[in-house]
Amino acid sequence: MRTIVAMPGDGIGKVVLDETIRVLEAAGFNANYVNGDIGWDFWCKEGEALPQRTIDLLEKHKIGLFGAITSKPKDEAFDELAPELKDKGLVYASPIVRLRQHFNLDICIRPCKSYIGNPLNFIRRGAQGEIEEPMVDVAIFRQNTEGLYGGVEWSNPPQELHDQFMKHPRFKENFGATPKEEVSISTRIFTKKATERILRAAFEHAKQYGYKSVTLAEKPNVIRETSGMMYKMALQMQKNDYPEIELWNTNIDAQMMWLTKNPETYGVIVAGNMFGDIVSDGFAGLIGGLGFACSAQMNPESGIAVFEPTHGSAPKYADYDVSIVNPIAMVESACMMLDHIKEFEISKRIRKAVTEVISEGQVQTYDMKKMTGRADVIFKGAASTQQMADAIIAKL
Ligand code: NAI
Ligand code: MG
Repeated sequence: MRTIVAMPGDGIGKVVLDETIRVLEAAGFNANYVNGDIGWDFWCKEGEALPQRTIDLLEKHKIGLFGAITSKPKDEAFDELAPELKDKGLVYASPIVRLRQHFNLDICIRPCKSYIGNPLNFIRRGAQGEIEEPMVDVAIFRQNTEGLYGGVEWSNPPQELHDQFMKHPRFKENFGATPKEEVSISTRIFTKKATERILRAAFEHAKQYGYKSVTLAEKPNVIRETSGMMYKMALQMQKNDYPEIELWNTNIDAQMMWLTKNPETYGVIVAGNMFGDIVSDGFAGLIGGLGFACSAQMNPESGIAVFEPTHGSAPKYADYDVSIVNPIAMVESACMMLDHIKEFEISKRIRKAVTEVISEGQVQTYDMKKMTGRADVIFKGAASTQQMADAIIAKL
């Protein structure tokens, strides 16, 4: 039997994960769940938001289902640390970023697929003024470890670094007159290896699932070295290995405009870390937002993969007696896990059940009802988290 590392994290992460495991069990997925500690509580109690024992569990069992965690700014993190840990010089680090870096989970996949009947679906006007509801079916591949989020940055950079920058004609011309103390630098580093891996993953996905295009959403005409390298590599890869799949090249800014004009045109989208983050949130908005946005982070070499909703721990909802948040993003993330471990039959059944619940429209969480999230929404006809999971289970 498979063992899954279940990492609830904080806030609503626990609720959506519990409900999702209930759905998985009802769908006949046989697994052991071992609990992986992660999140704010462990920072406060142990000074470590991602304890080594959780890393060991993932190393061993390879597959993680993750809810969400709470992160807070540096000063608050220090304030909430247990008194006996306060003088140990501990610095809070996001356990999500650490997971990515430790296991080199450099492939992030965020599918965005509309459900028929979801009241949150994007609509637009057609040429005759009629209302159109384009069905979006996009899979975004985001490089997850490098680029602008790589963490290589300085404010008031060290002298020798500044000296090196001054040798770059553009730096000298544009920033040379600014005092070093007034300069902040965040780097955008791309490596060939990681770029090749994310491009390859995107093309392979297009091939496996029958998408006709891969769109590179970067800015190669301006960010010539990093985006430019990625574009060149994509051209080469398409030509050599995927001639049957079209490669489209869009600029990220234009892409964000086009995604509300013709989102149904796109198939697989691939981008570096930050642009991938942006474009995936953009598409998620078209299919219902945070209650629907699922994701996977994986390392194709080690097979270690973590599946999680895109949303956070929504602390303001965490203490409600009856949970109101939408579990579908977490359920969908679990379906991605099932596909990853080749349990296609079960993922298909769960997705079908979710599809039916949404299209019937009888059971809707507060977000689907376009209500403001408050504890009393369940008295106004919104389904609770548990009722939504029950409805999905009833359809299995
Ligand atoms: P959030 O995603 O937790 O919540 C933002 C808002 O989105 C909520 O107030 C709620 O209105 C809505 N929402 C979120 N999940 C929903 C669901 N399943 N169903 C219906 N509505 C939902 O983001 P926020 O408030 O910016 O951050 C809260 C905490 O979560 C912070 O500590 C932040 O650092 C952390 N966070 C963690 C992430 C993760 O674990 N992957 C991702 C984003 C934020
Ligand atoms: Mg984001």
